Amino acid sequence: MWGSDVIYLDNAATSFPKPPEVAAAISDFLTDKAGNPGRSGHGLALAAQGVVSDTRRALASFLGAGDPARLAFTLNATDALNLALWGLLRPGDRVVTTSMEHNAVARPLFALAESGVAVHRIPCARDGSLDLADLECELRSMPTRLVAMTHASNVCGTVLPIAEAAELAHRHGALILVDAAQTAGVLPVDVTARGIDLLAVPGHKGLLGPTGTGALYVAPGLELTPTRQGGTGSRSEELRQPRQMPDRLEAGTVNTVGIAGLGAALRLLRNGGAAEVRAHEEALTARLLDGLRDIPGVHVQGTGDASRQVAVVSVTVDGWEPVDLGAALDSSFKIAVRAGLHCAPLAHHSIGTYPQGTVRLAPGPTTTPSEIDETLAALRELALAAG
Ligand SMILES: Cc1ncc(COP(=O)(O)O)c(C=O)c1O
Repeated sequence: MWGSDVIYLDNAATSFPKPPEVAAAISDFLTDKAGNPGRSGHGLALAAQGVVSDTRRALASFLGAGDPARLAFTLNATDALNLALWGLLRPGDRVVTTSMEHNAVARPLFALAESGVAVHRIPCARDGSLDLADLECELRSMPTRLVAMTHASNVCGTVLPIAEAAELAHRHGALILVDAAQTAGVLPVDVTARGIDLLAVPGHKGLLGPTGTGALYVAPGLELTPTRQGGTGSRSEELRQPRQMPDRLEAGTVNTVGIAGLGAALRLLRNGGAAEVRAHEEALTARLLDGLRDIPGVHVQGTGDASRQVAVVSVTVDGWEPVDLGAALDSSFKIAVRAGLHCAPLAHHSIGTYPQGTVRLAPGPTTTPSEIDETLAALRELALAAG
């Protein structure tokens, strides 16, 4: 069967395999509960509403958001980031961002810049790290509405200091939007304790849910302009989009099927599940980094320190174009990786791997140490073949 004999190292794109509990919850929902939540009063609609509310509560508690209503479900992290950026920023506003951003942040900001938002990008270091002194300098130089930054790079895994950045942003009168696409489900993201105003998460990566799921957290007191208007099942007599969250940002039927699967994944991750995943992935990352150091011709990007990154390791190999190396790993060794720019060209400029990009190895919760060893052996063989 496809998938069962593949070494899957593309968890930074989407996690695979999904836990069997996720598939079971989706099947159960489709069989027994698939009404339209919040729209009707019959049993199936109420059952669907129950599933959506339970998942919202579980996600809120997982992210440290006191009030579940402050979380709006979205299609993915990109959808959540767009909602935050277009819902908050107006011509004349200023945004400070970093050079490690994924296009999910960089492209909306580029479009917003064309409509009169000032965007300043702080260059990160070659290992992907952000110097907080640079952020402070920028915030001090001019009034800023928003700091928009990733929690961890999807290119080299480097973790950025979001709590300290939030503190700096607030000290200078700005809000902070965090892209937690590579950290939600793996690193603790406590929005209340860390003072995060807006947090975008995908449901389908570290949270282990299905594709088509994501969420945006909006801090209490912050009101975004909806980017979509429509039915919410509430205040149907009014033509104005309701103000109350989450209806304000959730026009139309949500992805109930996906949300049912996400709820099952969250039940696995709570009560220490996520910490176990992190410990497992950190150990695999350390094993990978150690092994890569011993292969002649292999160059590892990032900090080289598993405790300072998520399980995302980028390499270049002398004599290989990353896309060809990725294809060889797939066709000759059944190792699934991602090669190229990973939708983050600015990050490659920062770490010195533009335009060819890198090969990205991203282990996940079910990756085994022996799969890491097999990958190292394959890379050694390919590196020697080119040398
Ligand atoms: C850092 C980062 N931000 C945003 C995204 C977009 O996530 P999604 O595919 O859920 O829209 C990704 C996806 O890889 C990412 O790595």
